[in-house]
Amino acid sequence: MTSTPQRALSFFAGGADFATLSEIVEVARAGLASDVRDFLDGGAGREVTLGRNRDAFERWAYRPRVMTGLGVPDVATSFLGIGLGLPVLTAPFGADGLFHPEGHCAVARANAAEGAVSIVPEGGSHAMEAVAAAAPVAARIAQLHPMGDPANFAAMLGRIEDAGYDAVCVTVDCPTAGWREGNRRNRFDPDPAVISGNYPAGGPVALEEVFGQLFTRTEPVWTWAQLGERMAATRLPWMAKGVLTAEAASAAVDAGASAVLVSNHGGRQLDGTPAALDQLPEIAAAVGGRAQIALDSGIRSGSDVVTALALGADAVVIGRLAAYGLAAAGEAGVRRVHQLVREEMQTILTLLGVGSVRDLGPEFLQKVQP
Ligand SMILES: Cc1cc2nc3c(=O)[nH]c(=O)nc-3n(C[C@H](O)[C@H](O)[C@H](O)COP(=O)(O)O)c2cc1C
Repeated sequence: MTSTPQRALSFFAGGADFATLSEIVEVARAGLASDVRDFLDGGAGREVTLGRNRDAFERWAYRPRVMTGLGVPDVATSFLGIGLGLPVLTAPFGADGLFHPEGHCAVARANAAEGAVSIVPEGGSHAMEAVAAAAPVAARIAQLHPMGDPANFAAMLGRIEDAGYDAVCVTVDCPTAGWREGNRRNRFDPDPAVISGNYPAGGPVALEEVFGQLFTRTEPVWTWAQLGERMAATRLPWMAKGVLTAEAASAAVDAGASAVLVSNHGGRQLDGTPAALDQLPEIAAAVGGRAQIALDSGIRSGSDVVTALALGADAVVIGRLAAYGLAAAGEAGVRRVHQLVREEMQTILTLLGVGSVRDLGPEFLQKVQP
């Protein structure tokens, strides 16, 4: 009889690295200045939606299949024509330089190493081109806000194409900045450089011209028809980020979107909206296969990813989880987030009796009282 090394029998074979996502969150939060921590953790208003995003996951229970004969679960998939080693994209969180000087450049390198893809923010600390250069394999989707001068929007689409991105993510739930009590209480006023990677001081486009609308609300909000016309200028497919209703999902698809991101912006925009997860079934029904579906807002574990996919998402987007990884240990921290999400997903899928993430469906879930 050959002896099995003791290590292979351990619950944890990861050496001195972070063993859980909660450790990453703890280390990240402990290292941030309190106002930056509040900015990252917090939501809008009384944070009702922020709480709902988490509570929604507790109301689903798994219906496991046992004795399936299946091998190692396959977690690879594709989204917007982009292959993914795991069904996870990192969110376009702006002001990334507050969490780590390398910001989304580090996130993209971590994604490249772990098979995830970046949605790179317009309001980030580094230019789209710089993030693409840092990790072209992962920097595949660029995010824009539909506001300001349409000529600048068109110019940004050109920059995004030239930098080699494969798709665009348009944030439709942010015509003005949400009512963030925590930031107001803290008089939070970071250096504009953290959001001006794409619009550096002294450059051709002033930051105020692009993002001023978030605070002044002087211009009318764009319509779906205007967005559809303005997106027709690019050959790239696009996704509408911030869709919460069947009506908005249908409007996005009618305007030309190839995907919708079911999201309430992590509870940071309109407080009082439902959990994103709770809106997923109605949106999946409305879209009816005409577009792909991603979900963000509240994903904190591999188990959450499995639940979202079972309810109809093709992929998930992680915001704070990726930002905590970045704050905790830069590129290595984001990599560890992905590794732990993947390992946990594979555990859950094996216990659930699922061979591939593409086989997940509502038959693996049932509603329960929390
Ligand atoms: C610090 C921070 C900054 C963000 N900035 C943006 C942004 O500039 N544009 C945008 O569309 N979403 C932004 N978001 C929202 C995320 O893209 C995403 O929708 C949200 O974080 C998902 O929820 P989760 O944090 O619970 O995963 C930001 C989120 C955070 C935490």
